Amino acid sequence: MEPREVVAADQIDLSDIGFWERPLDEREGAFQLLRRERPLAFFQEPPVLPELALFVPEGPGYRAVTRHAHIVEVSRHPEIYQSGKGATSIPDMPEELLEYFGSMVNTDNPRHAQLRRIVSAAFSPRMIKSIEDRIEFVANEVIDRIATQGRCDFVVDVAARLPLEIICGMMGIGPADYGTVLRASNVITVSGNAIAGAGDPEYLPADADPLVALLEASQQLTTLMSDLAETRRSDPTDDVTSALVHSNIDGESLSPAEVASFFILLVIAGNDTTRNAISNGLLAFAEHPEQRALWQADPAGIAPTGVDEIVRWGSPIIWMRRTVAEPTVLGGEELAPGDKLLLFYNSANRDEDAFENPYAFDVRRAPNPHLGFGAAGPHFCLGAHLARQEIDVLFRQLFARLPDIAVTGEPDRLRSTFINGIKHMDCAFTPTAASG
Ligand code: HEM
Repeated sequence: MEPREVVAADQIDLSDIGFWERPLDEREGAFQLLRRERPLAFFQEPPVLPELALFVPEGPGYRAVTRHAHIVEVSRHPEIYQSGKGATSIPDMPEELLEYFGSMVNTDNPRHAQLRRIVSAAFSPRMIKSIEDRIEFVANEVIDRIATQGRCDFVVDVAARLPLEIICGMMGIGPADYGTVLRASNVITVSGNAIAGAGDPEYLPADADPLVALLEASQQLTTLMSDLAETRRSDPTDDVTSALVHSNIDGESLSPAEVASFFILLVIAGNDTTRNAISNGLLAFAEHPEQRALWQADPAGIAPTGVDEIVRWGSPIIWMRRTVAEPTVLGGEELAPGDKLLLFYNSANRDEDAFENPYAFDVRRAPNPHLGFGAAGPHFCLGAHLARQEIDVLFRQLFARLPDIAVTGEPDRLRSTFINGIKHMDCAFTPTAASG
């Protein structure tokens, strides 16, 4: 795939869902043009649905940060470019929602460091090790469920299952609640776009009020987690929820409400992202059979570089927002307090100043300074290690057990300006026995 520059810079509108429905080579052409000519281009915000205007104020617009070097610089200065002012979504978050989404991704220091310390302690080496064993187990089970069928919807049956079951297991949520978590997670993922009238009708019906749907889905997850947190407080096990309610970092632990808010963050940050990395990975293999052959011939040798190439290639989170806290200069342009910046990680991941042959999918790419997990700074992805492990294990097991798995249909893409998502993707393979 090579980028095609088919429109002038003036005609590009990253706030228009129509832009995101253009063919990929045209979108890549637009980002190439922006990086070269307008690396901090200004865009109006997508219009909020009229019925929500009372809750979600009309915003002043944002600048699209499209160069790798600029995103690295912004992420190194969290005191100037903040995450807690109004949140990391395009519109400022209404008060009603901050209760649910006041987790660390939307906070700054000192609160952010405090929350991250507590949560990181829960991801102890022992915990990570036990999760690693579980990834092997769940991946095997997920493949078992489809192995004899000869075909599947790869996203629904495989890519969505592994991260969902890992995160739920980590927190101590049982299989009876997986369906609730999955549905709520889908609603939350698209509702940000739906508030701007550009949701995905499969996950959120067009006649549904996105704010109500978002509140309901968040409330469902909050109830589930607060109940569990209460139980673990009196009766701890070895799960992350128990660790969070009993952690004692500088005399602090998380309240059940804070555990619930962290869980919602995990569901948003860790679930759909990993699902989409895996789905985009299989699609990349279908489009680049020679890269797939390299991986299949030597999974242990290729995975250490290949997994990060899958994340660079798919860039599951397209952007995150920062808000300027004090007068500053970026790329020679003056910025004022309150200015919104969208860090386009997808664009940074194709920046020709940071990558050789950025449009080549190369599973042996090294170095690979991609920003798929964010850039170095306080908000760098907490689950990067876990996500890498899930992608590695899944493809190792998949290629060992269903070596001829092939994509047989066009991927059905998520309608979103924020998540590079695939909702369905038909696959076929030679049926094989379940592992027993
Ligand atoms: C391929 C999969 C993943 C991708 C592409 C991804 C991407 C990201 C990105 C871009 C950020 C930075 C947010 C910012 O700039 O403000 C982030 C933060 C975060 N991620 Fe991930 N993520 C993935 C998997 C996971 C997993 C599996 C977990 C769960 C354990 C997770 C948990 C988090 C958390 C908690 C944060 C917030 C960190 C903070 O604000 O301090 N992520 N992720």
